[in-house]
Amino acid sequence: MSFDTPIPRKGTHSYKWDMMEKLYDVSPDEGIAMWVADMEFRPPAEVQAALERMTSLGVYGYFGDDSKYLDAIRWWMATRHGWTVEREHIFTTHGLVNGTALCVQAFTAPGDGVVLMTPVYHAFARIIRAAGREVVECPLANVAGRYELDIDGWDAQMTGREKLLILCSPHNPGGRVWSRDELLEIAGFALRHDLIVVSDEIHHDLVMPGNRHVPMTLAAPGIASRLVMMTASTKTFNIAGAHLGNVIIADPALHARFARVMEAMGISPNSFGMHMATAAYSPGGAVWVDELTAYLDENRKVLDAGMNSIPGVRSMPLEATYLAWVDFAGTGMSRTEFTDRVEKVAKICTNHGVSFGLGGESFLRINIACPRAQVEDAVARIRHAFRDLQ
Ligand SMILES: Cc1ncc(COP(=O)(O)O)c(C=O)c1O
Repeated sequence: MSFDTPIPRKGTHSYKWDMMEKLYDVSPDEGIAMWVADMEFRPPAEVQAALERMTSLGVYGYFGDDSKYLDAIRWWMATRHGWTVEREHIFTTHGLVNGTALCVQAFTAPGDGVVLMTPVYHAFARIIRAAGREVVECPLANVAGRYELDIDGWDAQMTGREKLLILCSPHNPGGRVWSRDELLEIAGFALRHDLIVVSDEIHHDLVMPGNRHVPMTLAAPGIASRLVMMTASTKTFNIAGAHLGNVIIADPALHARFARVMEAMGISPNSFGMHMATAAYSPGGAVWVDELTAYLDENRKVLDAGMNSIPGVRSMPLEATYLAWVDFAGTGMSRTEFTDRVEKVAKICTNHGVSFGLGGESFLRINIACPRAQVEDAVARIRHAFRDLQ
């Protein structure tokens, strides 16, 4: 697998490339799409082979018998994360935005507070508000360019109306891999305030060399009765269009509440996703992920070196994810000015930090899961757009 080979995606119904003109007013012929969190890479050969088996049969009926799929998940979690998952704890949803939305329905009522550690993945707040619940933003502390918990501050914020905490582990954006001690602190916070914890671990495989992700369920077994784990193959293997996610609930009472909402929403799996994920969670998939993370780590170094060479610009050192989180606060420029320079001058489409909630205002999120030459091109363009500072 060569991650260096560009794949033309313009005109392929790619959200990232084919919506950029409409949303950013940047033509895909001139600009570079570095926003939406999917990758410019093909998945492992095993995934392609699984789809080819389906298309050569040419039958696309309802999916049944998920035993191979569940075994593949169990194998992956055990070998990659040291976590034993029981088959009957696993729900298959249409992705983790869907999984989060179902949790909000299952575990909160209109008007309840849902705690987010901001800045955090923007879809969480969108879902919570659309469901008529209140977003409670608990800002992370930015300590010398790295996010840390601010448990004392968050304790002081709680009113008693909060029912749910959505944890993002590893964290998007900013790329923190929460340590076992930090996860225990979060668990203690949830216990003190009687919160159910939904741990979105979609980025758990995309961990940079030298870091180790700890699943919340292993870090804090003491909160098993209030814990919902969420994982997915889609971010890891770049198959997000398959819309597939796992919501894993060990506690029988929480499991029953979630099952009722799944039933009420009429959710059943998409056969393409099931075949792709089963194939991906395999020894070949594991080799591919190891090669991928090594490649992403080099891309990260290129991006960081380029951004940090611009006075006033700082890129957070990613411990996980392929989503560089770049702070323009030190330039003294307004949000409009630094964003315009990146978008209108450099013609790089990024996610705006402000959409991730409190603390994100001076940041742009740049997706580096692309051929290295594209990262180098983006760095050169952004450096040029800020050349007056150098
Ligand atoms: C933390 C987090 N959760 C969920 C998602 C999206 O999940 P899905 O595509 O399964 O809905 C993303 C996508 O970037 C994400 O970063």
